[in-house]
Amino acid sequence: MHTDLIEPHGGKLVDCCGAAEMSTPPAVAISLTPRQQCDLEMIAVGAMSPLDGFVGEADYNSICDNMTLANGVVWPMPITCAVDHATADKVSVGDKVQLNDDQGRLLGYLNVSEKYTQDKKKQALKAYGTDDEAHPGVKVMMEEGDTCLAGKIEVVTPRHDPMFTAHRLTPVQTRETFAKKGWKTIAAFQTRNPIHRAHEYLTKCAQEITDGLLIHPLMGATKDGDIPADIRMQCYEVIIEKYYHPDHTMLSVLPAAMRYAGPREALFHAILRQNYGCSHIIIGRDHAGVGKYYGTFDAQHLFDKLPEGALKITPLKFEHAAWSKTAGGMVSGKTFPKIEGDQIFLSGTKVREMLVKGERPPIEFTRPEVADILINSMKNA
Ligand code: ADX
Repeated sequence: MHTDLIEPHGGKLVDCCGAAEMSTPPAVAISLTPRQQCDLEMIAVGAMSPLDGFVGEADYNSICDNMTLANGVVWPMPITCAVDHATADKVSVGDKVQLNDDQGRLLGYLNVSEKYTQDKKKQALKAYGTDDEAHPGVKVMMEEGDTCLAGKIEVVTPRHDPMFTAHRLTPVQTRETFAKKGWKTIAAFQTRNPIHRAHEYLTKCAQEITDGLLIHPLMGATKDGDIPADIRMQCYEVIIEKYYHPDHTMLSVLPAAMRYAGPREALFHAILRQNYGCSHIIIGRDHAGVGKYYGTFDAQHLFDKLPEGALKITPLKFEHAAWSKTAGGMVSGKTFPKIEGDQIFLSGTKVREMLVKGERPPIEFTRPEVADILINSMKNA
């Protein structure tokens, strides 16, 4: 462990990898959903430390009600292995079950220590702040089974055919890389989008006050309509190459699923990045939000409500950022007063319309190299 770097959440990094394939497979095999597969990989590599498996009922209820594990450690999202009734009926507490991906390939095993019925409505209202099934994160949860199998995992292969292997660093590997570079303070940038000018502004402000920036795009399961991971990767590579300082910028992917849970997911994202060794995380407007479910700065306010010392990582809170025609540069609600019609604001829908027509959004909104990749991807879609 590199002692100059931030402590993992809960004190130490978990490692559930390296299990051997059993010569006699367990009687029951479960096909994990895309989200569960992401969760399994995240737990296995220690990104979800201190979790070493799927949560039991006491943790589930405590997470929903108090935003902590049953032992009091802050934890905002229930991480469950929910299965349907038919599967649940075949499993007893004490069994070892096999965990497969959706193509039937072995990932690992779950030592079932508990079986319980989850309260999906409670989870929806508490963790997502809504039980509207139109919410993409709530929808995935509602479609899962009602019975949760809890217990420690033993992972043989965290992911078959992983994408972006050169940039898929585990928490141990990001920590090693930071140590090699001599970085002690690192700002993580979570994103599920290509980097536009506002994102670039936040990341560069963060670079001014830290040793390095970890551009850490979420590359696990996302909703329909989000830009595919491979296209985003091209956008990150091109913008980093041309517009970032190589000595102070690093790219690695976060193989997590997006839950779109707004404020609680912002805390979750912070915990994950603390485990990867980051001292700071950028939290801008409507972090991890979707539609109109969350207030613009609710995520930032949730950090303020945490008890002292609950997290070691520090949020870098940003107001809305955009290009100001008057100032002739990027500004935020904190650096320049709002003047009617001064800022270049384009909705996601508007940007998409332009790209589909082959038009580059203004350079003040998106770098042309990024726009071109997006235009091309839409042509080929
Ligand atoms: S997110 O789901 O990963 O939060 P997105 O990729 O759009 O979505 O945002 C990445 C980060 O940039 C988040 O912290 C978000 O709050 C922040 N952000 C995005 N756009 C802006 C903006 N115009 N002003 C301030 N913060 C922003």
